[in-house]
Amino acid sequence: MVSDVSVHQLLLCPTGALHISPLAATCDRDDGQALAAGPEFSLVIPTYNEADNLHPLLQRLTAHLDLAMAGHYELILVDDDSPDLTWQRALELTPLYPHLRVVRRQGERGLSSAVIRGWQVARGAWLGVIDGDLQHPPEVLLQLLGAMQAGADLAVASRHVQGGGVSAWSLPRRLLSRGAQALGLLILPGVVGRVSDPMSGYFMLQRRAIAGPLLNPKGYKILLEVLGKGQIDTITEVGYVFQERQEGNSKVTWQQYFDYLHHLLRLRSGGRLSQVHRRFPLGRFCRFALVGLSGVVVDMVMLYLLHGYLGWGLTRSKLVAAELAIFNNFIWNDAWTFADVTLRQRGWSARCKRWLKFNLICLAGLGLNIVLLNGFYNLVFNHQWPYLANLIAIALVTLWNFWLNLKLSWRVTQT
Ligand code: GDD
Ligand code: MN
Repeated sequence: MVSDVSVHQLLLCPTGALHISPLAATCDRDDGQALAAGPEFSLVIPTYNEADNLHPLLQRLTAHLDLAMAGHYELILVDDDSPDLTWQRALELTPLYPHLRVVRRQGERGLSSAVIRGWQVARGAWLGVIDGDLQHPPEVLLQLLGAMQAGADLAVASRHVQGGGVSAWSLPRRLLSRGAQALGLLILPGVVGRVSDPMSGYFMLQRRAIAGPLLNPKGYKILLEVLGKGQIDTITEVGYVFQERQEGNSKVTWQQYFDYLHHLLRLRSGGRLSQVHRRFPLGRFCRFALVGLSGVVVDMVMLYLLHGYLGWGLTRSKLVAAELAIFNNFIWNDAWTFADVTLRQRGWSARCKRWLKFNLICLAGLGLNIVLLNGFYNLVFNHQWPYLANLIAIALVTLWNFWLNLKLSWRVTQT
């Protein structure tokens, strides 16, 4: 049962826009009373079904933080109303951990926004985040604090610098993680390239570095939002080894990979980074990518028919197959992907023009594909993973084809 004392550690969850105030919160407790002036450092722990991890986590966190800054920190657990009642278990532990405050968030979900809700009730000048499942070793906190004391705007625990790593990850898992990072580097080099581990969910930053702008994170990768929207000059990275989970399960699903891509594209098209590409036409892009897939099928079938069945030479068969695939894609894109634009550019001469441009852009894209494939394979991946290199090259060329065709072939003349 939750006692009277611990109920006072239950904070109201903020609602409304996600932005951090430059001034530390004098946040409202669930019982309506304001809290006294705050500590220097606020560490947010987002949780979903982590009840069994709580006790060892809090024990280790406080052991280290008491050593470094006893009485000058607070822990803020933001639980999304977990079915295993993590928030209630945390409240029961507050008599043991007086620096712990708990937010039970209802009606909203997601790791990144949970972290921001935690920062919104935080009272510290330094804000931090750590996973609630002990996969982020608490002892690294001391090094992160050291970096903040030395004047860093942002201190990131990284798996990819000296002293960092992952424990027992399979090759496909490492590939996926690195592939996602490589994709991020290509879409948003100025943000993703600033740290060695942009996927890290274990870091600290100055409140003033993130205060102000409206935050709109998607999915898991809160650090992307911080790097993309914050005012961050000095960054320090500290190596850590990503531990294996002892209790509970990861909440990662395939959805998180889509969210990651969406988040990258949105950061790229938003605000400061580029005024030109205000909104990425995601729906149109998905149609374009689907049409591209149908083109691959046409290409394969024609190659089989001409080369395997009719016995033509491989190059001649491939040229004809590729051209037919481009033709197939044009028909579908003209009639479906860009149907609204086509309606405004009627007549055979306009259609022929679009076809010619589309054809040239696709052929140039083929050349780019070969260059990128070689670049990734030889320079980035050190002569390993040719298929991953090709996959990334194809993804990039699809973006290139889409963008150029949007701007050149199916351009709407503004009046
Ligand atoms: N409040 C809340 N809401 N917390 C959540 C949610 C949610 O919807 N989803 C996950 N969490 C919490 C988990 O309970 C855990 O404490 C933490 O966020 C991380 O979630 P995991 O599901 O354990 O993630 P992971 O270990 O696979 O992924 C981690 O990968 C990175 C390494 O690249 C992320 O947690 C990153 O923080 C980490 O650095
Ligand atoms: Mn985890």
